[in-house]
Amino acid sequence: MARVFHATAGSGRSAARRAPRTEPAPAPSAPGRDRGGIVAGYLAPHPPHLVYAENPPQNEPRSTGGWEVLRWGYEELRRRLKQHRPDVLVVHAPHWITMVGHHVNCVPNPRGVSVEPIFPHLFRYHYDFRTDVDLAEAIVDEGAKAGLVTSGLREEGVRVDYATIGALHLANPDWDIPVVSLSANNNPYYYSDASLAEMETLGAATRAAIERTGRRAVLLASNSLSHLHWDTEPELPEDMSVERPFDHHQYAGDMELLRVVREGPTSRLRDAIPAHIEATSSETKAGSLTWLLAAMGWPAIAGEVLAYGTVIATGNAVVEWVPS
Ligand SMILES: [Fe+2]
Repeated sequence: MARVFHATAGSGRSAARRAPRTEPAPAPSAPGRDRGGIVAGYLAPHPPHLVYAENPPQNEPRSTGGWEVLRWGYEELRRRLKQHRPDVLVVHAPHWITMVGHHVNCVPNPRGVSVEPIFPHLFRYHYDFRTDVDLAEAIVDEGAKAGLVTSGLREEGVRVDYATIGALHLANPDWDIPVVSLSANNNPYYYSDASLAEMETLGAATRAAIERTGRRAVLLASNSLSHLHWDTEPELPEDMSVERPFDHHQYAGDMELLRVVREGPTSRLRDAIPAHIEATSSETKAGSLTWLLAAMGWPAIAGEVLAYGTVIATGNAVVEWVPS
């Protein structure tokens, strides 16, 4: 039986009684200016609307704009990303769903058209990028060594999901940095309060592979926050007069999580993330944010919120963590 199906039933509290909590991996050594390691991590949500609003040449639909505050946050992210001079962007995205285990895209040059299935009128994006195959294979290897079910995707022509493409475009529209993309195992959606402990292991394996290959890596967690959304769309999708939080409860839940993010240290998020998922149906349930912070060794720092805004009522924050 695959390890991904070993999640224990019952509440998080009862699980805590049954088994000791997964111990955090030892903190990574801080990368020097020219040494390898994880040089920054970003919460980088992927609403297709943000790409649509930008009118990049790769995306077929045209817009008149919209969601500017979030896009200004991404502009700041891009400026900072360049300063970090990464060798590679490693992204974990919730819409490359794998039912068994954690998959890593090892195809050297993925190219094709990524389509958002619910919003195909907003997102039909022509992508063509390079994979850091050595690092991708190293993550497969380190994940397996850590006891995870891992698999390398080596089949050419498999369509790359819109959450991977969306986060990568918004973080680096120049596409001039190699990429490694990781799938999201769908296990948490079958076990309503299953722990995110497996993402701790995947994060540690990711870091081990980055350090083994000597890469300067920036990590992207392609997650929105609160995730209830409208089921009807205005005639003009970018009509900002109808854009607002789903309700006060969802907004307040996001603000509570971001308060902890801004205060730090990240170790407080080990409890705050599951609480936020329970309160707001947060997309962080897919594990991307927990993977990112685990890979960074839950550093004793605060995150910097570069922007927050809603997209069809879902909460989205652009956040940076830079290890000291
Ligand atoms: Fe999503």
